[in-house]
Amino acid sequence: MTAALPWDHLDINELGHLTIGGADTLALVEEYGTPLYAMSEEAIRENCRLYRRSMERFYQGRGMVAYASKAFCCKAMCTIAREEGLGLDVVSAGELYTARAAGFPMERVLFHGNNKTPEELAMALEYGVGRIVADNLTELGTLNAMAAARGVIAPVMLRIKPGVDAHTHSFIRTGQIDSKFGFALETGEALGAVKLALEAKSLRLTGLHCHIGSQIFEIEPFCHAVTVMLEFMGLICRETGTALAELNLGGGFGIRYIAENDPVPYDRYMEKISGVVKSCCTKLGFPEPFLILEPGRSIVGAAGLTLYRVGEVKVIPGVRTYVSVDGGMGDNPRYALYHADYTFTAAARAGEAKTQVVTVAGKCCESGDLLGENVPLQEVKPGEVLAVLATGAYNYSMASSYNRNPRPPVVLVGENGPRVIVRRESLEDLVANDMG
Ligand code: LLP
Repeated sequence: MTAALPWDHLDINELGHLTIGGADTLALVEEYGTPLYAMSEEAIRENCRLYRRSMERFYQGRGMVAYASKAFCCKAMCTIAREEGLGLDVVSAGELYTARAAGFPMERVLFHGNNKTPEELAMALEYGVGRIVADNLTELGTLNAMAAARGVIAPVMLRIKPGVDAHTHSFIRTGQIDSKFGFALETGEALGAVKLALEAKSLRLTGLHCHIGSQIFEIEPFCHAVTVMLEFMGLICRETGTALAELNLGGGFGIRYIAENDPVPYDRYMEKISGVVKSCCTKLGFPEPFLILEPGRSIVGAAGLTLYRVGEVKVIPGVRTYVSVDGGMGDNPRYALYHADYTFTAAARAGEAKTQVVTVAGKCCESGDLLGENVPLQEVKPGEVLAVLATGAYNYSMASSYNRNPRPPVVLVGENGPRVIVRRESLEDLVANDMG
């Protein structure tokens, strides 16, 4: 076997086929068809463990790693997060419902969102969610009234915009003042909200939250956010006499999509972040908070890939070569949305040199339905299987059935071989909600 790929759970077997978690991708296609999402269970679990171990080693376990389920949410994934002892970040009634259906302990759930509906807030209270991360004053007011009416105290955190500019795509950058998420520090809005939450009879403010963006490779913006947040917690303490106990730093840790990407090992993040927390707290004379991290992409992203069947290979001389596959923006909208980078390979000849540069196109009735442009690839023929790597995050979860293309299934490759954890959408499913 050759370990020709810079992802631990991917390999190339003696037949030259790409494998994931030890399973031959061509055998998976034979069994389950295309398009197909495949994920390595070991890779996901290993990432969960790395995070927990880092939290243990560098912060003496005084925190919680909560998996951000928006990255990839289904019952099996919630079960893995539960079994690995993680918390769970949910952002809608749908994700919350999925978590409960998987028996996820509600005290380890954090409910996010910039515009939770009253129905969602009611559901969070009814389920007994551990922390509701409030985004704005309307929500705080509604939640306080709802909790009072039920005779319960709602545990809340406040989402703060720390004003940190992370170097990532503007659509997934969230920490700066011009963001729809959270309370602004600069304007005094955040301090006002803290005071309100502390005074509200039916709310218990456990701490503060921030999330500066996604697919971030530098540690510096996280350290900056920690400093800003702790200084604010120090100010709150001086102004109100309350030392908030929890600091939630969100997610955003970058992963390898292409060989050039160089993700920072979790240990380095944790070591740096916990160092900054400790020194800031000493400086401010503030107790070290319970730390929450919310990684999504970095738990599941690299653990997954997508397998397609190549149809037409259209060579337009002097222009470009389109390699069309039997999926596209419906199962992976990330190129259309963010011009996201991916690595492509012929699954049957993964070790062979990539001798051409192509555009990989989907089958939707839309010119922008592309998965990549100017990407290196082997000389693929119609009928071959094409693999797109590192599609485990924000692919299935952002998938649609645009053009009424049914969504692909998800196969989880585990110790005992592959199993379907989300079945393929059928044509009947597509009309199931149609009336008449
Ligand atoms: N916590 C909060 C409050 C978040 O908003 C997010 C992501 C996370 C945690 C997890 O971030 P991660 O570790 O996965 O970077 N659809 C985009 C990504 C949107 C991220 C939204 N929030 C994409 O495909 O790149």
